[in-house]
Parts: sequence; C-alpha cells; structure tokens
Amino acid sequence: MDKNTLSITDNRTGTEYVVPIIAGTYPKYGAAINALALRQIKVGEDDFGLMTYDPGFTNTAGCKSAITFIDGDRGILRYRGYPIEELAERCSYLETAYLILHGELPTPAQLADWQRQIMRHALLHENTKKLMEGFHHDAHPMGMLVSTVAALSTFYPDAKKLSDPVLRRLQICRLMGKMPTIAAYAYRHGMGLPYVYPDDELSYTGNFLNMMFRRTEVKYRVLHADHEQNCSANDMRSVGSSQTDPYVATAAAAAALYGPLHGGANEQVLRMLREIGSKDKVADYIKRVKAKEVRLMGFGHRIYKNYDPRAKIIKRIADQVFEVTGRNPLLDIALELERIALADDYFISHKLYPNVDFYSGIIYQALDFPVDLFPVLFAIPRTIGWITQWEEMLNDPDQKIARPQQVYTGHDCRPLPGIRRTV
Ligand code: ACO
Repeated sequence: MDKNTLSITDNRTGTEYVVPIIAGTYPKYGAAINALALRQIKVGEDDFGLMTYDPGFTNTAGCKSAITFIDGDRGILRYRGYPIEELAERCSYLETAYLILHGELPTPAQLADWQRQIMRHALLHENTKKLMEGFHHDAHPMGMLVSTVAALSTFYPDAKKLSDPVLRRLQICRLMGKMPTIAAYAYRHGMGLPYVYPDDELSYTGNFLNMMFRRTEVKYRVLHADHEQNCSANDMRSVGSSQTDPYVATAAAAAALYGPLHGGANEQVLRMLREIGSKDKVADYIKRVKAKEVRLMGFGHRIYKNYDPRAKIIKRIADQVFEVTGRNPLLDIALELERIALADDYFISHKLYPNVDFYSGIIYQALDFPVDLFPVLFAIPRTIGWITQWEEMLNDPDQKIARPQQVYTGHDCRPLPGIRRTV
C-alpha cells in the first residue's frame, strides 16, 4: 500500500477507506488530508458524508501557501524562508515587503523602483480627504481607516479587473502608498490638526511619521508584515474569494485586525494598564485573570505556545526605546505584569507568554502615540501580507469561494403551527 495514505475504519459500518496524504514542501512543514475525501464515509445512501468539525480553524488548512512559515512550538517565523530575526536586523520595511510579495529580495534597482512606485501613490484624491473630514471629531481611527479603505474601491473601478496582473500591481501600489496617508489623516483629524501631504522624497516610514509628526523611524514594522493564515489574512482570502476588489477585501481584513483578540490587543493592553492603575494592584489583577474574570491582554497566542519570536525581538527594541524615553507609571505596571505572569504557574501551565502586541502597545505608549491609533499602526505594515495572501489565492487553481459547512443541531422538519395573531 502507498505509504503516503491514511487508512480510516468507520466503526459504524466496518468499512475501511484509504485517503491520500498531501504534504507541504517537506513533510515537517505540515501534511493534510483533503477534507472532501471524508465525504465518502457514510452510513447510508441518504447520509451527507463525514465532515471535520473545527470551530476557529484550529487544525484546518484553508490553502497551500509559500509566503510565511511558522512553527509555533519552536518559535520560528520566516518570510519566504528567511528568519524574521535576520530580516528585522538587516532589511528595511519596503525590502521585506518586496520579498513577501515577489518571493525574492530586491536588487538595489528593483528596490528603488518599488519605493518610487509606492510613493507616487501616497497622495489621496481630494474627495477621499473630504470623506474623512465627515467623520466625527472623536471617531476611532481604525473605524476611519476601515471605511476609507473600503471607499477607495469607488475611486478605482479598474480594481475589479482581477485577472489583469498589471492592474493588480497598480492596486497593490495604491494600497501600500495610501494606507499610511489614511492613517496619518485619521490621526490629525482626531487632533484637529491640518493634514500634511505625503512627501515622496522621504522613505516609506519617514514619510508616514512626517505626515503624523517628526520622529525617528520605527524599524520593527518588519515584524508585522505577514503572519500566514491569521484571523485577518483569513478574512482577506475569504472576502477576496468572492472576487471582490482588493480595497473592500483589505477593509474586511483591517476590520478583523481591529478586534481585541487580534491586532486590537495592543490598544487593549494600554486600556488594561490604565484600569490596573498602579504597580501594587498588579497582583490583584492577576488573581482576577486566574479566576477567568478578565483576560490578560497582550498574552497568549493560538500558534505560539512557547514564545512569540516577534516578541523576543520587539522586547529588545522596547528596552532601547525606554532608554531614550525613560520609564513612566504605565510602563512600570506593564513590566511588573510581565514579571509576575512569567513566574506564575497558571501562565506557565497554560503556555501564556507576552505576544508582540504586549510590547508594541507599551512602545507606542512610550512614544506618545494616542491609544486608539495603535491598531492602525499595525494595519499599515500588515497590508503587504494581506495583499500577497490575496494574490496568491487568486493565482491558486485549487481555491474556490470560501464557504464552510456546518454541523446542524437544530430541529428536524416540523409542521408550522396555526398562526396566532394578537388583535
Ligand atoms: N489571559 C488569560 N487566560 C488566557 C489568555 C489570556 N490572555 N489567553 C488564553 N487564556 C487561557 C484560556 O482561558 C484557556 O484556559 P482554559 O484551558 O483553562 O479554559 C486557555 O488559555 C486556552 O485559551 P483559548 O482561548 O482556547 O486560546 P486560543 O488559542 O483560542 O486564543 C488568543 C488565542 C485569542 C490570542 C488568546 O490567547 C487571547 O485572548 N489573548 C489575549 C488577546 C491578545 O493578546 N491577542 C493578540 C494575539 S497576537 C495577534 O493577533 C497579533
């Protein structure tokens, strides 16, 4: 018998089935069976056939992908085969973004061209600006970002021509160019400040910070560039699978990122630190977490159960930032929380460690970014990951419109009772 198969015996009927195993690049990079192969497993003619039940897709591969590799147990994260630690140390954000999209690092000429193409799309149509002016002064910037990115779809109807690779590339550059501008406008709108137009003489991150306010460049954006099939990338693929344009699909992905269990966690970390209030209240808060009254935001990860390799790098950067900005009371609470949680049995046994959002949250706070801007700062660098996942999906002949099954647990067919009307 072929070794790359799985034998399944259905004990209800005694029937044995042999199902082929699909392997990743190397067997150690994951293997799966085609879920449809289970459909033949039936107890009778009328039976729908067996499905897998997997809320939250904890063990279901929705695609084959060659972009990002994660080994959660060993704390490995690689983009196109390159370890994240080396990329964070030696590559700029745009170099990494190019690698993610194209599969190889750019030559100096390719990088210069990539930067030029993106920066020339940084400007927003004046009507987009007007649209953003319509938001209430205290609108959450992430809500503004999600809505404005969706609205770009109406400005660029050519984005619907999904099968044209030249037009697709144009939308990618537009999205990459405009995300930081939308984010900066959202920030300045909330502050009541006049908008600053993009400057294509500056670097990608330099221009963003210039549109916000002058600051040093934030290098750890590389860490946020992609993270394979996470909640928001899955949404990008799922919405994109109905062949929508990339703007509305990106808006959907950004909306998923906004959730407190995903990229919105960095904002929630700060809200939690404020709620704790002082270092001496940390122990009490930990008790509430262990009693499951609250979750420790910025801790835990679906995939990383030993440590988050991004957190390891970003923690080092956090220490460098704090050397410049100095400590503050919220930072002291965060570090006390980290210290207690890392030594506590509950967190050790549940494999809960600080994730990237824990440190990004406290870095943004130390740099004085407004708290509600934190998820927006995550969405900008993640855009390249989303659009690369989207393009990979479009080019994958195996992909279909995303449409999961369900295990129905409701009523069997029943007669409608006589209609009772109140007069
Ligand atoms: N604080 C306290 N307990 C937690 C936490 C937490 N942050 N996370 C998980 N647990 C506990 C659960 O209560 C559960 O305990 P039990 O087995 O005794 O019932 C166990 O750990 C497993 O939890 P799940 O919810 O099943 O873990 P899952 O893998 O589904 O969730 C998630 C991962 C959503 C990230 C979770 O750890 C969490 O809510 N963390 C806080 C939010 C956060 O920081 N999110 C950012 C993630 S990084 C990113 O998206 C960029």
